Amino acid sequence: MKWFLSGLVIAFVVGIAALPPDLLQKKVQQPIAFNHLVHKDLDCASCHEFVKEQAFAGLPSLDVCLGCHESAVTENPEEEKIRQLAAEGKPVVWQRLFRQPSHVFYSHRRHVTIAKLDCQNCHGKMGESQSPPQSVHNLTMEECISCHEAKGVRAGCVDCHR
Ligand code: HEC
Ligand code: HEC
Ligand code: HEC
Ligand code: HEC
Ligand code: HEC
Repeated sequence: MKWFLSGLVIAFVVGIAALPPDLLQKKVQQPIAFNHLVHKDLDCASCHEFVKEQAFAGLPSLDVCLGCHESAVTENPEEEKIRQLAAEGKPVVWQRLFRQPSHVFYSHRRHVTIAKLDCQNCHGKMGESQSPPQSVHNLTMEECISCHEAKGVRAGCVDCHR
């Protein structure tokens, strides 16, 4: 039985790996249709709290949302989902859109705080989008390297692959 089950798991994983990436990308569906544009007066770091100090940016927990949405501020049913999850004692589980393979080392602190690059350089208009994109735009190696070359930054294989 165990062998049968792990066989199934392997078949599932291999099946997923064999899907073309753009098919996988269409599956991204967020638990709440978050609207960046209506929150544009907030500092990005108020929700992506580690973006200035750490490698990863972080995605907000329900508590961050409840800070302003404990009671309704709009009539949007998507907003109601915040309080529904809270009442059920469930966390909000955001799907990741930008993600590098694990052999790539990338740090937000280095790019945002030290190099002082705007988020838009790499995330386009995501910070002003009205609904979560359904597909992923990951940075390609070429995009990383062409900016490094333009700015005279080291671009040896082991700088990014550790
Ligand atoms: C600092 C306060 C604040 C925080 C934190 C905040 N919001 Fe909001 N949110 C607002 C305000 C104000 C509006 C109404 C904007 C308007 O209608 O102009 C709003 C509107 C919304 C709406 C309705 C959007 C629409 O298109 O009508 C949703 C959904 C929402 N917020 C979800 C969230 C989620 C999810 C979080 C946590 C990740 C969050 N908010 C965090 C202040 C906040
Ligand atoms: C009120 C909270 C809030 C603020 C402020 C906010 N975001 Fe977000 N952000 C979210 C939430 C929630 C998600 C996950 C849902 C989604 O993809 O829309 C997200 C997702 C993202 C993602 C995709 C991350 C990934 O890989 O899944 C990027 C990029 C992003 N935000 C950039 C920005 C930028 C740039 C700003 C400032 C201009 C900003 N955000 C301000 C809440 C916020
Ligand atoms: C030089 C390019 C670059 C810049 C500038 C940049 N990002 Fe990113 N961001 C990335 C890459 C690459 C990833 C995927 C990282 C990974 O998977 O390890 C990412 C991932 C994210 C995520 C996903 C969640 C997480 O924990 O990493 C969020 C949210 C995000 N960025 C927000 C921001 C915000 C907000 C800014 C501006 C303050 C910003 N980024 C600036 C390249 C960039
Ligand atoms: C828009 C321009 C831009 C893009 C895109 C960009 N970088 Fe960078 N990167 C920089 C700059 C500028 C620095 C130098 C920061 C400093 O002064 O330390 C840097 C530094 C680095 C460093 C540190 C290098 C060292 O000296 O050790 C690494 C690692 C790195 N980037 C990885 C990446 C990866 C991986 C990507 C793609 C996912 C990426 N970068 C995309 C501009 C960029
Ligand atoms: C500035 C950062 C950066 C530098 C420098 C860099 N890479 Fe990459 N590399 C990446 C990123 C980001 C990815 C993942 C995205 C992609 O596949 O385009 C990647 C992916 C790869 C992959 C996997 C491709 C695949 O199809 O899965 C290989 C192999 C690779 N790099 C080899 C190298 C070699 C060899 C060098 C030196 C000549 C190098 N890289 C230099 C950022 C970098």
